[in-house]
Amino acid sequence: MTQHSTMPAIRQLGDPVLRQQATAVSSPFTAETQHLISQMLHWVIDANGVGLAAPQIGLSQQILIIASRPNARYPHAPLRKPFAVINPQLIAQSDTQQQGWEGCLSVPGVRGLVPRADWVEVRYLDEDAQAHQVRFEGFIARIFQHEYDHLIGLSYLDRVKSTQDIISETYYFQQLKQGLL
Ligand code: NI
Repeated sequence: MTQHSTMPAIRQLGDPVLRQQATAVSSPFTAETQHLISQMLHWVIDANGVGLAAPQIGLSQQILIIASRPNARYPHAPLRKPFAVINPQLIAQSDTQQQGWEGCLSVPGVRGLVPRADWVEVRYLDEDAQAHQVRFEGFIARIFQHEYDHLIGLSYLDRVKSTQDIISETYYFQQLKQGLL
């Protein structure tokens, strides 16, 4: 198993770093950036997240991780190998949106029903600084849009249509268990 250090405290909503526009990572990446990315790839798993953005650990840089897999917090997430998305640019998105429940490590205890584009077309660098242009769909597109928001100073609570679409996480899990969500 790869060595990795303990995860730093996740910044919580209200922390100014979560409201900043993150700066682009210079390419080629420094050894420090490479190390950070490899750490983030581990931390997101440790935290039972399906995504993590650098501002959440206090670094205002355009780095996010997508790590979709079924876990305690997201039992229905599709399984995909965790990957890093650096300096993402949103090229296009679908006109159609879908509502879905989201939570966030920076906003513990609540879930919100958030409309997101069905698909997004994104240009980014991977952990080896290779350029990609891809279309993310479904839940992966939702994770991308949630994490991308962290890079532009937004939280998912800024995206809900109504405050009535925000519920307690305890209630969310009760409903989920009964198959009602
Ligand atoms: Ni989040």
